[in-house]
Amino acid sequence: MAAKSRPKTISLLALFIGILCLYFPVTTAAVLPLVEKSGAAVDLLYLTLVWPGTFCYSGQCCMPTTGEPSNDFLIEDLKTLDQTGQIVQDCNSTCRFSVNKDPMPSLIPDLYSNWCNLSCPCNNGFANWNNTWCAYGQCSQLNQTDYFIAAFNMTAKANLLNAFQVKSIVPSSSASYKLTEINTALANLSLSAHVECVTKTDGASLLSKISFCISTDGLSFIDCPFDIKQTCDSELWFYPFYINQLNTECDYDYVGSGDLIKMPTAKHLPM
Ligand SMILES: *[C@@H]1O[C@H](CO)[C@@H](O)[C@H](O)[C@H]1NC(C)=O
Ligand SMILES: *[C@@H]1O[C@H](CO)[C@@H](O)[C@H](O)[C@H]1NC(C)=O
Ligand SMILES: *[C@@H]1O[C@H](CO)[C@@H](O)[C@H](O)[C@H]1NC(C)=O
Ligand SMILES: *[C@@H]1O[C@H](CO)[C@@H](O)[C@H](O)[C@H]1NC(C)=O
Ligand SMILES: *[C@@H]1O[C@H](CO)[C@@H](O)[C@H](O)[C@H]1NC(C)=O
Ligand SMILES: *[C@@H]1O[C@H](CO)[C@@H](O)[C@H](O)[C@H]1NC(C)=O
Repeated sequence: MAAKSRPKTISLLALFIGILCLYFPVTTAAVLPLVEKSGAAVDLLYLTLVWPGTFCYSGQCCMPTTGEPSNDFLIEDLKTLDQTGQIVQDCNSTCRFSVNKDPMPSLIPDLYSNWCNLSCPCNNGFANWNNTWCAYGQCSQLNQTDYFIAAFNMTAKANLLNAFQVKSIVPSSSASYKLTEINTALANLSLSAHVECVTKTDGASLLSKISFCISTDGLSFIDCPFDIKQTCDSELWFYPFYINQLNTECDYDYVGSGDLIKMPTAKHLPM
């Protein structure tokens, strides 16, 4: 029965994907199996950093309502995975995420600049932090503070832009790089990293995300015990990110100079 109804489902799916492709000039591939396994063992943390230059090149991106993103890889999330790379999430049906609880307020400038959500419409990043903590953080062995600090600390430790720069890999719209060069730069960090790309309609590969496997205590990089589907060509682009790529046509309620990080108000961070 199930097998019989399959072709129809697949053609509908193909039609749906085809329609999606008409709307979005860049295709992305889901890489990790999205398997909910609440209660399953968490064997590692998986830190995903996203390159804003590619995010903004691939589609609309918006200036966050609060703070300004740094010109660097941005934190997307810190997932909880098992040994095979399956996602373990939603371990607790009740979730309380608080940015007001000490010492979270001291992390807010980092959250605004390094863990912001550039999707449109403009938003303050809160939904992303909340969803990440509620879906994955609660499956980790860390408390909320240590979970967020682990993401920041490990991002700083990886120092990707520096690792690339020492190998003469800098964001550029005129020169492409070989995947092997990227991998060599990452290997110099003694890190096993997963590199992901999105593909432009003309077939060019754009460096999109880099993920790392981290020990469950959030303190060390470990070898990833699983591989992901290769989404990059042997040749890929690492486009620059400019702050003016961000659409600012938003209701900011934002006063003061662009350099100032606005601290949370009742309006922006309703707790
Ligand atoms: C679930 O989360 C709530 C609120 O954060 C907490 O009080 C409770 O101890 C958690 N339950 C488990 C099983 O971890
Ligand atoms: C990012 O912001 C967009 C638009 O405000 C929202 O739809 C999306 O869920 C957010 N992403 C995450 C991961 O929270
Ligand atoms: C945080 O996320 C949880 C789980 O996704 C959701 O139930 C809750 O409403 C969110 N809290 C806020 C304040 O958005
Ligand atoms: C989180 O856990 C760490 C280490 O177990 C502990 O030192 C710290 O006080 C905890 N923080 C909070 C806010 O519970
Ligand atoms: C984060 O890094 C700081 C500074 O390097 C260090 O003092 C702290 O112990 C680290 N915390 C965690 C949870 O990794
Ligand atoms: C690794 O990077 C450092 C700079 O951080 C450089 O001095 C060193 O030569 C590199 N090592 C290798 C094996 O490429």
